[in-house]
Amino acid sequence: MDTIIRLDCVSHLYNVGEENEIVALSDISMDITKGEFIAIIGHNGSGKSTLVKHMNALLLPTSGTVLVNGMDTKDSANLWEIRRLAGMVFQNPDNQLVATMVEEDVAFGPENLGIPVDEIRERVDEALDMVKMTEFKKQEPHTLSGGQKQRVAIAGVIAMKPECIILDEPTAMLDPVGRKEVLNTIRRLNREEKITIILLTHFMDEAVSADRVIVMDQGKIKMDDTPRAVFSRIPELRELHLDIPQIAELASQLRISGYHVPDSILTVEEMAEVLCQSS
Ligand SMILES: Nc1ncnc2c1ncn2[C@@H]1O[C@H](COP(=O)(O)OP(=O)(O)OP(=O)(O)O)[C@@H](O)[C@H]1O
Ligand SMILES: [Mg+2]
Repeated sequence: MDTIIRLDCVSHLYNVGEENEIVALSDISMDITKGEFIAIIGHNGSGKSTLVKHMNALLLPTSGTVLVNGMDTKDSANLWEIRRLAGMVFQNPDNQLVATMVEEDVAFGPENLGIPVDEIRERVDEALDMVKMTEFKKQEPHTLSGGQKQRVAIAGVIAMKPECIILDEPTAMLDPVGRKEVLNTIRRLNREEKITIILLTHFMDEAVSADRVIVMDQGKIKMDDTPRAVFSRIPELRELHLDIPQIAELASQLRISGYHVPDSILTVEEMAEVLCQSS
């Protein structure tokens, strides 16, 4: 299997040598395989953002090594190629859109890469199509909803032809409709375009969509497994102050009430099937 991102014994300290020194990441090793959809969850301050900022060289390890497609993030000669390969989308859509028209915004990245004009036009159209925002291409970004703005921000990353998109709580500021739009877009990019996805989220129902869930606590990886395996460890998740996906919570309550519901239930469909069989 092809590894796209490798962390080897990575630690990160903020304010090194000062009174307020903080160990934000502590000796983390992990591999991310091309095409995976990974969700990273963890309590506030557990180190999620610090971790992913290492994956596109926004931060460098205090000790240890990060390789992106085999390129060491510490080597400044690799910086732009790493940033192109591993694009990043942040929480606040308003801070990410810079141009006065949607299509200009999406063109911004490839323009900076010095891509020829004709190819930029192609890439912009393709990227807007992938996030289903083509009909808004002449619109001013500030007229869009939060979910639409995030989709434009994602298109801006796609236009750079990345292999991996890292999203740091992209739905945190969105209403339920916007959240759904963005999550569906992310899922589609993973399934259809085979783009590796790393999604940081506080919404457990979003993490359920991933192939693999990483649980962080105090700068360390506490769990790294399938959503089904992670979300069956309810008492441990509670100890880490994490929410439980709604259906897993319901399954747990039903078990307490004496129903025979397996602890691996995660979706409404699975729950419906179990309840129909037991009635
Ligand atoms: N620029 C910084 N300077 C100093 N300390 C920082 C900085 N950024 C983060 N920290 C600290 O590092 C630790 C990890 O923070 P980080 O932002 O990575 O966590 P997080 O899991 O992303 O949190 P959240 O869920 O709130 O986004 C926290 O203790 C935080 O206060
Ligand atoms: Mg964060």
